[in-house]
Amino acid sequence: MLGRIVRIIEVFGPDTPALGVSELARRADLHVATASRLVERLVGYGWLQRDADRKVRIGVRLWELASRASPTLPLREAAMPYLEDLHAVVRHHTQLAVLDGDEVLFLERLSARHAVINLTRIAGRLPLHASSSGEVLLAHAPAELQERVLSGPLPAYTRFTVTDPKVLRARLADIRRDGYALCPGYIDERATGVAVPVRGPGGAVVAALGVVVPNDDNARATIPALRATALGIARSLTQ
Ligand code: PHB
Repeated sequence: MLGRIVRIIEVFGPDTPALGVSELARRADLHVATASRLVERLVGYGWLQRDADRKVRIGVRLWELASRASPTLPLREAAMPYLEDLHAVVRHHTQLAVLDGDEVLFLERLSARHAVINLTRIAGRLPLHASSSGEVLLAHAPAELQERVLSGPLPAYTRFTVTDPKVLRARLADIRRDGYALCPGYIDERATGVAVPVRGPGGAVVAALGVVVPNDDNARATIPALRATALGIARSLTQ
């Protein structure tokens, strides 16, 4: 029963916000009658909700519960005022991400009108090798995770994505030494991601703070502001 409920909830992805019950049943590999009964109960609890056209979506109650997820809540609360200040200065996408499994998970993203294209979404994921936040987190990840990513497939998003494990390994060393990752055109040729590590009370890297700016010569100019902001977040995490 629990497994079936999990399957229903997990059918909803970033590109699948709403579904009819029969399509939901198909994707969750359940009989329509079973899916329909479980959906009704979940709607009753507010974990799912129905649109005017009867399509099913994740309910606000589930969002409310998930927003309390540990350990992301203290991090987001500490980081938000700093993220807003950085956003006011940089005036481009500003985002906060953590390592989750073998991917980077974005906790927050502040956007800007007329800002450059950005694939990141709040609660969205990207592979570690292809984004600046991902590279920062990978550079400070346990060795076994680094080796797993380096030996796995490194799919290209553009002709600039680093897909050679040797090049990626050298980049990770540079990122640890320089304290930032700069990824021009890795995910979309028009955008550059720039990210720095955010350290927790013990000095370990707990998050990546990044911006997505146009792919031009000005991208580097964001590094001092990113560093100052990451220090501010680290200080407020230790208080
Ligand atoms: C990045 O973090 O490098 C990044 C993320 C999303 C984009 C572009 C770059 O759309």
